[in-house]
Order: sequence, then C-alpha cells, then structure tokens
Amino acid sequence: MLIKKPGDIPSSEITSKSNYFTRRKFITGAAATGAAIAAGLYLRNHDGPLEDTVHAGSKLSGIVKSQYSTTEKPTSFKDITNYNNYYEFGTDKYSPAGLAANFHTRPWTVSIEGMVKKPKKLDIDTILKLSPLEERIYRHRCVEGWSMVIPWVGFPLNALIKQAEPLGSAKFVAFETVFAPNQMPNQKSNDVLFWPYVEGLRMDEAMHPLTILAVGLYDEVLPNVDGAPLRLVVPWKYGFKGIKAIVKIRFADTMPPTTWNIMASNEYGFYSNVNPNVDHPRWSQKTERRIGDSLFAPKHPTLMFNGYSDQVASLYSGMDLKKYF
Ligand code: MTE
Repeated sequence: MLIKKPGDIPSSEITSKSNYFTRRKFITGAAATGAAIAAGLYLRNHDGPLEDTVHAGSKLSGIVKSQYSTTEKPTSFKDITNYNNYYEFGTDKYSPAGLAANFHTRPWTVSIEGMVKKPKKLDIDTILKLSPLEERIYRHRCVEGWSMVIPWVGFPLNALIKQAEPLGSAKFVAFETVFAPNQMPNQKSNDVLFWPYVEGLRMDEAMHPLTILAVGLYDEVLPNVDGAPLRLVVPWKYGFKGIKAIVKIRFADTMPPTTWNIMASNEYGFYSNVNPNVDHPRWSQKTERRIGDSLFAPKHPTLMFNGYSDQVASLYSGMDLKKYF
C-alpha cells in the first residue's frame, strides 16, 4: 500500500480522531468491561519475551493438494518472504522480513466472539488440527499493481466458522491483528496506521470455499513476515484484505470497519474485489507486474476477480461494483 505524504492528503480524506474512536469503540464495544485485567493477560500472552516452540522453516505434514490451486508457476520463496507489506514492522517492502524474524507466535490464542452460539478461545495448535491442511496455490494481487503466485498451506475459514455456530443474524465477520507494541515497532504510535489492523468480510464471502486461513507456505510453517501464525487469504480480493497475525474473529450484523477504508475511504472500499474496470483514484488497475519477472517483461493483464470469476461472481450478482468497490 502506498502511504500518502501528509501534504497529499486533502482534509476531506482524513478520518477525524473522534470518528475513528467511535468506530474503534464499535470494534471493542462488548469487551470494554474488565478490559484492564484482560489487557494484562493479553499482553502477557502475546507480547512477552516467551519461547517459541514452532519455528518458521519447520515442515508441515499431511498436506493435501487442492482442486482450487492454479497451475501457474509459483513465485520464489525468496520473493514471497522478502517483498512484503507489513506495516506493524516497516512501511517499505524489504525491512519487515528482518524486523519480524523474532516475532513470538507461541503461545497464541484466537478469540471467536460476537454473534455466535459457541464463543471460544482457541489455541493455535488446536486450530491447526481443525481441518486437514491443504496446499492452495493462489494468485495474490496487491492493490498497488504487483502480483505473485503463492503456494499457501491452510484450511477453509468455513471449517473454523462452523465450530462457532454463528447466529442466523450474523451477516459479517470482523478480524483483528494482535496488538503487541513491544514486538511490532510501528504499533508504538498511530503515526503509520491506526492499530490494531482490522479487516472484514461478508458472511457469504467468509464461508466461500476459496477463503482460507493460511498457516504455511511452500509446505513450511508460515514465515512471520507473511502473517504467522494465522493469516487470512481471499484470493479474489486485493491483498490488503489478507489480514496477518489474527487474534480475534468477531461475528456481527453490521459491516465492520477495515483499516485501509478508515485511512482513505475513497481509495479502499470494504469489498476490494480485484477489478480491472475500476481504477484506483491514483493509478490504473488494468495490469500488474508479476514479482520475479524480468524488468523488461510485459505486465500481465489483471483479471476480473483476479481470475476467480467462475467461482465467486455469483456472490455479487446485481451489485454495482463501481459503487461497492
Ligand atoms: N496485515 C497486517 N496486520 N498488517 C499489514 O500491514 N498488509 C496487507 C496484508 N495484511 C498488512 C496485513 C497488505 S497491504 C498486503 S498486500 C498483504 O498483507 C501482503 O501480504 P504479503 O506480505 O504476505 O505478500
């Protein structure tokens, strides 16, 4: 994502602090009581100097192939793990890999809450056993105009959702990244983004079989820089929907706030479906640069829904995708 210099941002685009905090209140609303105690426990769980037991680079076993994988050539492991967007660690593409290397991903709990029959706090090692791990080789299209092909390892988000038994009235799923300022240097202030990073999906998008929670890539435990230990992947949407280091999944009947929409609502919509016919206000979305291609290679045409139209176009039938971008 490109962060605009303060001088480039018209005041109309800046979310007022009060508006932001009203939205934040909405995110954390129900958790307000006992927050101080919870915060103490939370920081001890997610931000302390704790030993990891599972390391990036460990092999994952029992991975099954998937009919949903593309046959396109995967981007190299080196590029996938060294050209990243992870603003908690750095705002350029290259520094997050090193800065995230010692991030602690154990112990790690994910809270499943909101409009569900069975709210839960699940340990990441329990989550890893919920469903067989699958290899999903997906195209990954960043809103900035570059793309990769990534051999994720994960499982359908719907397997986790089914465990929680959402109420019929739940229409959206909200996701939240860990808040761990002792480990994520940029979270020490709100100068870069408002923290924690938040994202959301409509319930039918969340239940779609293409939507996965990734725990690995190239058959190995997910490297920290790619969102360990648990990261969302929605291949027909721009990459920023793929929230990293998830600690909270909340079901709601109203559309949840999302980080980039809070930062610039005219540039980043809630849906953020890959769409070559809807340009970003500051650049075209018709083509993309495939990371790993030679500098002289022609750009690739960007495909509607990132090439997943057959599977997902029906989710949006009758919707004006220019309005709901
Ligand atoms: N999640 C968090 N918590 N913080 C981030 O900065 N960046 C997003 C998304 N998820 C981001 C995040 C953006 S802009 C993109 S394009 C993808 O992660 C990048 O994923 P990758 O670094 O694994 O390619």
